[in-house]
Amino acid sequence: MPQSSPPRRLKLGVFDSGFGGLTVLRELVKLLPDADSVYLGDTARLPYGSKSQKTISRYAVESSKFLADQGADLLVIACNTATAMALPDIQQAMAIPVVGVIEPGAKAALSTGTGDVLVLATSATVQSGAYTAALNAEGLRAYEKACPLLVPLVEEGWTSHPVMDEVLKIYLSEALAEAPDSATLLLGCTHYPLIQSAIRDAAERLGHPMEIIDSARATAMATAEVIAAKFGDVHCQVSGEAKREFYATDSVEKFQRLGAGFLGQPIDEVRLIDLGG
Ligand code: DGL
Repeated sequence: MPQSSPPRRLKLGVFDSGFGGLTVLRELVKLLPDADSVYLGDTARLPYGSKSQKTISRYAVESSKFLADQGADLLVIACNTATAMALPDIQQAMAIPVVGVIEPGAKAALSTGTGDVLVLATSATVQSGAYTAALNAEGLRAYEKACPLLVPLVEEGWTSHPVMDEVLKIYLSEALAEAPDSATLLLGCTHYPLIQSAIRDAAERLGHPMEIIDSARATAMATAEVIAAKFGDVHCQVSGEAKREFYATDSVEKFQRLGAGFLGQPIDEVRLIDLGG
C-alpha cells in the first residue's frame, strides 16, 4: 500500500532586504494563520534601492536559496526593489513557487476605479519601470516618483518627525506636478506602510487628498491563491500554533526592536546568519 506522508504545516519563506517586509508577513499571518513562516532580512546589505540590477539579483537569489534550505515550500519576495529587479532571476533559480509584490499591487490599484496611479518607490524600483509595466498591463496610467530619503528616515525611526513631513512635502509636490489630481497613490516600498498616515497628511496639506494603496494585503491574497492552486489545504491541517522563525544578516537587536512595529507583534528571537558580501 502506498505510504502517505504525515500531515505537516506549509512553511512560507518571506524575504526582504531588511525588516520592512514584515509589513507583508503581518498580512500573511492574518490571512494564513496556520502556516509556519521563515523570514530573512538581508540587513547587512540594505539598502537594495540604490544598487545595480546585477548586485540586487545576486543578493536576492542567495537569500532565496537560504530560505529554501530552511524548508520553505513557497517564497514571497516582500521587497519591491528585489521584485522589480530580480523576480525572473529568482524564479529561474528556485524549484518552489515565488510570489512578488508588484503584480498584486498593480491589481489592487485597479480596484480603486481611477485610471491614474502615482507610485512612490526606491530609485532602483523606479529605474526598472516594473510598476509602469504592471500598471499598464492592467490598463492604468503610471507615474513613478523615486523617494530615496524615505527608507533611511524610517530605518531611523523618524516616522512622525518634522524632517519626515518636510521631505514628504517636497517629494509629493514634485510628483503631483506630473500626476493628475485624481491619481491613486500606490506605496511601492516595504517601508512606506509605516508612514502611511504621514503621507496622507502631507498630501492633504498640499490640497490633494489621495486614496492610498498598500500592496502588502494584495500580496498576501495572491500568495493564498498560489497556495490553494499548488498545495490545496492539506498542509495546514496540523493543530497547535504556527512557528515563526526570523533571520537577519546584521543588526539583529535593531531588527527585533524596530521590526515588532512593522510586524504588529513582538519578535522573540532573530538569528544572525552570514551570506557573504
Ligand atoms: N525593501 C525595499 C523595497 O521594498 C526598501 C529598502 C531597500 O532599499 O533595500 O523597495
